Amino acid sequence: MSENKTLQPTTIIIFGATGDLAKRKLFPAFYNLYIDGRMPKGFNIVALGRADNTEEYFKTYIKENLESFSRKKVTAGDWAGFQAHITYFQHQLDEEKSYQDLHEKLDKFDTVYGTRGNRLFYLSIGPNFVSTISNHIKNTSLASDPQKDRIIIEKPFGHNKQSAIELNSLLAETFEEEQIYRIDHYLGKETVQNILAFRFGNSIFEPLWDRHHIESVQITVAEEVGVETRGSFYEQTGALRDMIQNHLLQILCMVAMEPPASLESGEIRDRKVDVLKAIRRISPETVDQYAVRGQYGKGTINGVKVKGYRQEDGIAENSNTETFAAVNFYLDNERWQDVPFYVRTGKKMKEKHSYITIQFKPLPHSTFSESSQLLSANKLIINIQPLMDIRLQFMTKMPGLSLDLKPVEMIFDYFACQENTPEAYETLLLDALLGDLTLFMRSDQVEEAWDVVKTIQEAWENSKDSSFPNYDAGSWGPEDSFTMVERQGHTWA
Ligand code: BG6
Repeated sequence: MSENKTLQPTTIIIFGATGDLAKRKLFPAFYNLYIDGRMPKGFNIVALGRADNTEEYFKTYIKENLESFSRKKVTAGDWAGFQAHITYFQHQLDEEKSYQDLHEKLDKFDTVYGTRGNRLFYLSIGPNFVSTISNHIKNTSLASDPQKDRIIIEKPFGHNKQSAIELNSLLAETFEEEQIYRIDHYLGKETVQNILAFRFGNSIFEPLWDRHHIESVQITVAEEVGVETRGSFYEQTGALRDMIQNHLLQILCMVAMEPPASLESGEIRDRKVDVLKAIRRISPETVDQYAVRGQYGKGTINGVKVKGYRQEDGIAENSNTETFAAVNFYLDNERWQDVPFYVRTGKKMKEKHSYITIQFKPLPHSTFSESSQLLSANKLIINIQPLMDIRLQFMTKMPGLSLDLKPVEMIFDYFACQENTPEAYETLLLDALLGDLTLFMRSDQVEEAWDVVKTIQEAWENSKDSSFPNYDAGSWGPEDSFTMVERQGHTWA
């Protein structure tokens, strides 16, 4: 996204550097950027962790993880160059002394580098620590230059609208809005970024992109994985907070937004906020009509028997947490009035598949036989992952002597362009290093997104679902999610 910006010398300070995200995503992303020559000339990664590790031990641990998680091969030469940029410090998140020590060390680095470099703080830690770290950074003046210092914050950003507002105002005591990078890694995915190019870089689709031509929009993010080792975090979170409030609503924004006047970050973020504001709020009385929750029981995925959610580690045996959520949204605006937007996401589903389906309206009158007419609605499918392609479905005459029609697809396959596309974190970290906020969430976006799901969240928190578990692992979710869509005369694609 950031073609016109240049990289400045930067010290990257990772809080939670021994955690899961750092080992699977952050270090591999920095390593790949390094190999691609996309890191700043002078950069330093200061890894902070609670444990009293030696630097040597930490580097060996990072190297081993790079071998498992890096997109590019780890060669001796590249590793030797990269590791020289890493330093490990023991750090206690809640002790001011740790921040004072860090300050001294960063100052020393600045002397070595000759200039006061940029500082990029990455909070790869649980949401409960964000305010503690931000306060300590403020008290010890670690981020004293608004032109040079930035902070990246992982989702979930708060746990509801009120807590997000409070967190935003707390961060505002230390950082200006332009210094805050609230990450939603779905926005870094190639296929999600391409929605903008597809819609606004072509003249043929946009004229059809409205209520007059589109019957419904569906967004599915199905996961095969369960909660893995994150049981206690997930118990407090659930699918609505973990996925819909952020990833799925962000995709919805990309599909539904008005054309931005430019690619300037403020402009794009404004257009997205417009969408979130236009989403009709679901009243408490109608939550059951427009939203469905589910929790998986035991089942079979790819021929392997798996346990139910309530049997996973760290999960209460009578847990009320949803591992599946589907919502039927409407947008009250000129372009989308009355077009249903169906979104769904779930864990331990039949297969990993994230995709968007734009279902066009059927023909008002068909020249062909009735059965052909039934098939005639055109579809555009944007496969986000693991398939990465765009498919346009249209009707064609079957070769032969009779006039039989059948749907066929025209496919654009990403892998035909480039086999090894950068990971979302590479794109987003590079943008943060460059100071490009476009793909990050602004405070009002996050607050609006919480507002969109507020009534559903409250209704689900306040009532137990006695039907849980209500879908088998390895299925496409609870029956009610199909019924919700069928009520409007549609089916999940
Ligand atoms: C994270 C959620 O934000 O996204 C996880 O917390 C989820 O629960 C993950 O599994 C999915 O990301 P991806 O990139 O694997 O689709």
